[in-house]
Amino acid sequence: MPRKKVTGDVEASSAQLDNESTVNPDIEQGDELLEEAPKTDVTANPEAEQTNEPKPKKTRVTVPKREITIILDGGRSRIKVLLIVDGQVTSNLVIDSVVCQTDAPPFGELGAFTMSRGKDENKKDIIEHWVVGSSAKLQGKPFTSMSDGENHKVDYFPILALGAIASLPNLYELSTGSNEKTRSLTIKLITLSLANPLDLKAGLGACKWMKVDGIKYSLSFSKTALNYPEGYGAALFGQDKGSTVYTLDVGFGTACVSQYNNQGKLPKRVSHKPNGGGGISTLIREFAESVANGDSSRLIKPSQLREILESSTFQDGTVNAIAPDGREIGSALEVAIKNWIRDTPLTFALESLSTVGRKHPIVLCGGGFEVPAVQHLVKEALMQSSIPQNNLIFPPSPGLIALSEMTKIYTQTNA
Ligand SMILES: Nc1ncnc2c1ncn2[C@@H]1O[C@H](COP(=O)(O)OP(=O)(O)OP(=O)(O)O)[C@@H](O)[C@H]1O
Ligand SMILES: [Mg+2]
Repeated sequence: MPRKKVTGDVEASSAQLDNESTVNPDIEQGDELLEEAPKTDVTANPEAEQTNEPKPKKTRVTVPKREITIILDGGRSRIKVLLIVDGQVTSNLVIDSVVCQTDAPPFGELGAFTMSRGKDENKKDIIEHWVVGSSAKLQGKPFTSMSDGENHKVDYFPILALGAIASLPNLYELSTGSNEKTRSLTIKLITLSLANPLDLKAGLGACKWMKVDGIKYSLSFSKTALNYPEGYGAALFGQDKGSTVYTLDVGFGTACVSQYNNQGKLPKRVSHKPNGGGGISTLIREFAESVANGDSSRLIKPSQLREILESSTFQDGTVNAIAPDGREIGSALEVAIKNWIRDTPLTFALESLSTVGRKHPIVLCGGGFEVPAVQHLVKEALMQSSIPQNNLIFPPSPGLIALSEMTKIYTQTNA
């Protein structure tokens, strides 16, 4: 076997190497390295050569394959990513769900990559360059937001997933291979999605490689990686709260109500209803309307309204929100939230919970509940339909709970 270069990876894991057996099934073949045993100093021992001492044996040094699990929730407004390496969470990313296809390979830009997922008539790879995340808006080209189309987050799933991988801060260290410019990535990609897992897998399976900052990574995705229902982490959070638990996930597009059965080891989804149009995008529309009703001469753009909503506060029973010109528009936001609760698909979601919530706990999750005024007014509405306060469970960081609780399944102590 040709002698291979000893890379930084080897040094990093030298403590483990001492105890590794070369027949360890976890060792990746491509990363077996040969290292010579220390040479005998012939000048110090001139007899060494004459005595025909056996030549120093080459010892096999192996790089243990790291188990890389990525848990991905590619939402309409934010891609949430958890990276677990060898059973430990090492990165936690939240990326804007915006993509832009560019003409040239972008370099040094977060979330930028080149890939191919098809061949032309001459059997040559068709090359695509993409930027995913907030940098996508800075490419001087039209960008696509996942909130722009009904099915965008499924259609663009491979791009979002590769964008998330390209955004990992330590991608090179996660890869294996002896060539610095051509590496391999083996990933167990766990998805949280309402979409058909076969559609997601087929889209991703077509992507055989990606190039990030001049380094080409061949990609292999574990075929056995699972797809969980969107919001599954919230069900895990409520697992010990009752044998039947409901979740209400208020995202950007949907206000999804799911029912889970907790009689087994892991929660099992019994039913779900997405209530499309019940999410924050509809609240922003309501907000635009109520602001315009107050003073139509000073227009605030929807993107600004979203920022105002996200930075709004709720104190002593009052909603506070500040317009770009310094105006206080908290009362307009309060009206908007109340209309959103009363007369949109969110109303259906709340109605469907109004009777079951009297008996069973409800975990309230999704980025919508990161807005304190939303949390307060939705809670108030649910309590008005005679749901006891004890049955309303607000987890910490409700916007990330669907992902963060997945560590219960995928980190080392629970693996
Ligand atoms: N930390 C936060 N502070 C304030 N607002 C937030 C926060 N996180 C999320 N939001 C708001 O909640 C909205 C919904 O966020 P979430 O991440 O649940 O949506 P999504 O998963 O991308 O959408 P969908 O589930 O519909 O695909 C965001 O668009 C944002 O406006
Ligand atoms: Mg979501």
